[in-house]
Amino acid sequence: MTENRTAVVTGGTKGIGRAVAETLLERGMRVFICARNKTEVSETVSDLSSRGSVAGEVCDMRSESQVRMMLDECVRVFGGIDVLVNNAGVGTFGETVDEISPEKFRQIIETNINGVYYACHFAIPHLKERGGYIFNISSLAGQNAHPGMAAYNASKFGLNGFSEALMQEVRHDGIKVSYICPGSVNTEFGGDRVSDEKAWQLQPADIARTVSDLLDFPPNALPSKVEIRPSKPPKE
Ligand SMILES: NC(=O)c1ccc[n+]([C@@H]2O[C@H](COP(=O)([O-])OP(=O)(O)OC[C@H]3O[C@@H](n4cnc5c(N)ncnc54)[C@H](OP(=O)(O)O)[C@@H]3O)[C@@H](O)[C@H]2O)c1
Repeated sequence: MTENRTAVVTGGTKGIGRAVAETLLERGMRVFICARNKTEVSETVSDLSSRGSVAGEVCDMRSESQVRMMLDECVRVFGGIDVLVNNAGVGTFGETVDEISPEKFRQIIETNINGVYYACHFAIPHLKERGGYIFNISSLAGQNAHPGMAAYNASKFGLNGFSEALMQEVRHDGIKVSYICPGSVNTEFGGDRVSDEKAWQLQPADIARTVSDLLDFPPNALPSKVEIRPSKPPKE
């Protein structure tokens, strides 16, 4: 079903996005990645090119024009868009509402919400052409609030509502929407580092597998929200 189809993976240079890109390439899909860091986009495209058809472009998801141009480039290179994985996201933790700067607050909301909207807005006409799938990578922070996480909580609570409305809007056009809510994943997210000490956490490949498994559901069935968490976190 997915062979020779095209997927866009935002934030595809590391962590979850990179694992999703690898898995979709292994399925025979063409994959177009984007991120802000030019060197990392080039290196990732080069690293992944042995696995299949991959291309990429620098794009800041906070910029409407950059997102439109990035998707146009994907269509130019691969001839369409079938799957959109809205994965690019940022978060900072530990700063209370009176401490977090307006600039940082805007960065989180504009990346995690506006960026997803821009990508959906410009990709949906392409997805409608042959049916498609939109994955929004949300978080358990989209339902569990914590002090010091107000900006990130707001962005992911918002993303969940956005995803549910979108799912109902486009399902009659042959476009499925799922939002995936992971607990802790072993990545560099929020300035963290990938480490063996976090082997108990979810790994990026677990989220990539979730995306891949959802693509295999029959056309009549749509798991629209998926929660996934470490099965054995340290006892508190
Ligand atoms: N790690 C976790 O514990 C966890 C848990 C639940 C949900 N999530 C969600 O999973 C998603 C991926 O997180 P991750 O853990 O894989 O993080 P990560 O390792 O920090 O990777 C984030 C990716 O997004 C890109 N990105 C960030 N801001 C961007 C922007 N404005 N425009 C374009 N690309 C941008 C980054 O590249 P550049 O910096 O070069 O732009 C990078 O490729 C996020 O939405 C996050 O909220 C993560």
